[in-house]
Amino acid sequence: MALRTRLLAALFLATCVPVVPASAAGDAAEGERVANRWCVSCHVVGDKPMASDKAPAFAALAADPAKSEGYLKGWISNPHPPMPNFNLTRQTVDDLVAYIRSLGEGKKAIQNK
Ligand code: HEC
Repeated sequence: MALRTRLLAALFLATCVPVVPASAAGDAAEGERVANRWCVSCHVVGDKPMASDKAPAFAALAADPAKSEGYLKGWISNPHPPMPNFNLTRQTVDDLVAYIRSLGEGKKAIQNK
């Protein structure tokens, strides 16, 4: 009886521990959600055509080899005007960069067809 209670308690605790990803890799799906909320008014996010022409389309950033992951992280963490500084968390910056980079993968896949 006592053992069973302890086992149940252990099981309960094990399922309650939040799953922390081992790497701090960005989540592209979350990045897309953030981009559609915060970036879409200026940048072309995906194929939504409501952006200004002064800001580069995210797909264009993904296709440009000069815009490396490190470069994008640096820029989004510390942008210069006219882009506002959103004070995003490091995780959100990673998510956004993962999303932007994923657009490049799609493009390469299409080009390879
Ligand atoms: C108010 C308009 C505006 C918003 C909102 C905005 N940006 Fe920008 N962004 C710009 C402009 C304009 C540039 C080009 C600046 C330049 O070339 O000097 C830019 C440039 C960038 C660049 C670098 C481009 C390069 O070629 O070096 C990245 C990356 C970027 N934005 C990401 C984002 C992300 C991610 C968001 C949302 C969290 C966002 N931007 C929201 C206006 C905006």
